[in-house]
Amino acid sequence: MSIWGWGQESRGLRQRALQRIIRSRFILAAAAFLTALVLISGASGWVSFLILVLLLLGVVALSASIPRIDASPTEPMNDPAIFRLSGQQLAAQLPDPLIIFDHEGTILYVNPAANGAFGPLARGGTLLLHFRAPEMQTLVQSVMADAQAGSIDYSERVPMERWYRATVLRLDQAGGPDRQYLLSFRDLTEAHRLERMRSDFIANASHELRTPLASLSGFIETLRGPARNDAVARDNFLEIMQKQAERMARLIDDLLSLSRIEMKAHIAVKDQVDLTTILNHVVDSLKPLAAGLDIAIERNIDSGPVMVLGDRDELTQVFQNLLENACKYGQSGKKVIVELKNNGEGIKATVQDFGPGIPEEHIPRLTERFYRVNIETSRAQKGTGLGLAIVKHILTRHRARLVVRSRVGEGSSFTVAFAPQKIKG
Ligand SMILES: Nc1ncnc2c1ncn2[C@@H]1O[C@H](COP(=O)(O)OP(=O)(O)OP(=O)(O)O)[C@@H](O)[C@H]1O
Ligand SMILES: [Mg+2]
Repeated sequence: MSIWGWGQESRGLRQRALQRIIRSRFILAAAAFLTALVLISGASGWVSFLILVLLLLGVVALSASIPRIDASPTEPMNDPAIFRLSGQQLAAQLPDPLIIFDHEGTILYVNPAANGAFGPLARGGTLLLHFRAPEMQTLVQSVMADAQAGSIDYSERVPMERWYRATVLRLDQAGGPDRQYLLSFRDLTEAHRLERMRSDFIANASHELRTPLASLSGFIETLRGPARNDAVARDNFLEIMQKQAERMARLIDDLLSLSRIEMKAHIAVKDQVDLTTILNHVVDSLKPLAAGLDIAIERNIDSGPVMVLGDRDELTQVFQNLLENACKYGQSGKKVIVELKNNGEGIKATVQDFGPGIPEEHIPRLTERFYRVNIETSRAQKGTGLGLAIVKHILTRHRARLVVRSRVGEGSSFTVAFAPQKIKG
């Protein structure tokens, strides 16, 4: 018996003895009292001995009904449910792919997660015929040769790109002819995606800043050299330089705005704001831009207030970008409609244009940072490609959705759909 087992046993015995004494305390007290009485009254020793024996028998009979307690019910080792689970049942429940194979590389067991991730893997099949990547072959062969566990980064490209940390280790440390090995995978696809997004973002942001910066330093050089005494060229260049500097400032503002909104993403909005006022304000402020582009903005907004839980400045930024986009990119349609609906289907605000529309394959990517359908058009319109990324973040914080519908040649509509509102009063 192990030391742990002995400690358990003696603790159980002590507990049972204590329980017996507590349960028979009245009988023991009666026994002591009667014995004292018999001794005082001078009765014979045999009589008092007989009384004592009878009382002790009572104690034993009573305590026999107490159930035996082996250990505290909170001891995990005594939970029979755990003992009833086999290793195979546990492996089947694991969310990570897991494969067991023998010393010849023959597959012995595949858990459902592995079958789901790597297609049907038959028991009895050859592991390395399925995982043909050279780094996987090297890993498996080296663990089989020297028994030292090893890991590699492993990726699958089909049907879609997935990344894993694959680990191989020997199961039976003692060795022997029927050695078994375990190949397990930890899914790193999401971490990989985030890392790629981060590096893409840095690359895009520096590229966007580098272009106007290169143009600025080029003009500075020209102004100090060949154009030093050319007043007309100087005015012309200074104007371009100013535009480039403004572009850089806009980009930095958008980047800061994006990071501020990301930091606030988990803070719920508490203020009540009127969408009618916000939309009317946005239309009024963008009227000059629309007029300059020869666009008529049509309002389809009822006069009454439409209250939502929201941040006034952030929602203004959302509709400003949507209306600005409709004017800039839907310019050829000559008309933009701003509509606010509050009916049984909830609260929906839509900005619709009748411009060239957006090809279907671009729609899911519009809210990615720096994503532009046509980079030249966007640059010509002073776009940074961050507007809809900011819109998406603001709407996530407002528990609202952005629904984009578009037909090439007919125009686009961007609808902000708010979740049912819980506004008091
Ligand atoms: N109404 C629209 N019609 C056609 N294309 C659009 C429309 N709205 C957006 N787009 C396309 O989506 C891209 C992304 O828009 P987004 O608002 O994110 O960036 P941007 O307008 O280029 O820059 P920013 O908003 O930062 O000034 C635009 O560059 C444009 O190609
Ligand atoms: Mg925009």
